[in-house]
Amino acid sequence: MKIIAANWKMNKTREDAHRFFGELAEKMKLQHRGQISNDKNVIICVPFTAIGIAREYADELGFTVGAQNFHPAKNGAYTGEISAEMLCEIGTRAVLVGHSERRTLFGETDDFVAQKVTGALTNGLTPILCVGEKDGEKLEAVLSKQLKSYQKGAIIAYEPVWAIGTGKVATIAQIEQAHALIKKLVAESNAGGLNPPEPPAVLYGGSVNEKNAAEILAAKNVDGVLVGGASLDADKFMTIITCV
Ligand code: PGA
Repeated sequence: MKIIAANWKMNKTREDAHRFFGELAEKMKLQHRGQISNDKNVIICVPFTAIGIAREYADELGFTVGAQNFHPAKNGAYTGEISAEMLCEIGTRAVLVGHSERRTLFGETDDFVAQKVTGALTNGLTPILCVGEKDGEKLEAVLSKQLKSYQKGAIIAYEPVWAIGTGKVATIAQIEQAHALIKKLVAESNAGGLNPPEPPAVLYGGSVNEKNAAEILAAKNVDGVLVGGASLDADKFMTIITCV
């Protein structure tokens, strides 16, 4: 089953979110009898303030509500932070972890990212662990380091940093190579374990849009996409979720 995840980043007020989901519901009714078909898993990661609005539409439309951040501690003196338990309580079921913007702008380290993966999984949130190299960095070295945070149950999103929000998309060959490498590294890291886990779902992210999504989703080892900019527009997002 393909996974289509959206990352709204710091966009859309509650009013904007209402409008977006209203439009999506209209389009769904016209084209798909109201439901995102159940052969794909759509996860929409909205700002905290829009989680309630997203929940109002989630069951009807058939998508999962995700958040973009949380603090891995159970509770305590972390002014301004929000816990996994708090997110779960309001109906959130997934959360982005290790996004390059969090790593670069907010100084999140691999160690902290690993704590977040554990914190999400122990509280029933599916972490979407984002990994990817910056321009000029060695792919295998970066992935080996960042994938130490992976645990069974997480979804992985391969997002080359140079492709995020730039309009520069990795080629299909680059995507297939990186995804195969991710699956190999995860398999090796579990070698000898008593219960070798299922291969993880690996999404591609970085300038995915309504024009290139179908080709990317058809590529080998691609289990879905993580969409930023193009997920803000109901028309474009609808095209992406219905292209598979
Ligand atoms: P983009 O963002 O689709 O706008 O490149 C992707 C992301 O940051 O997850």
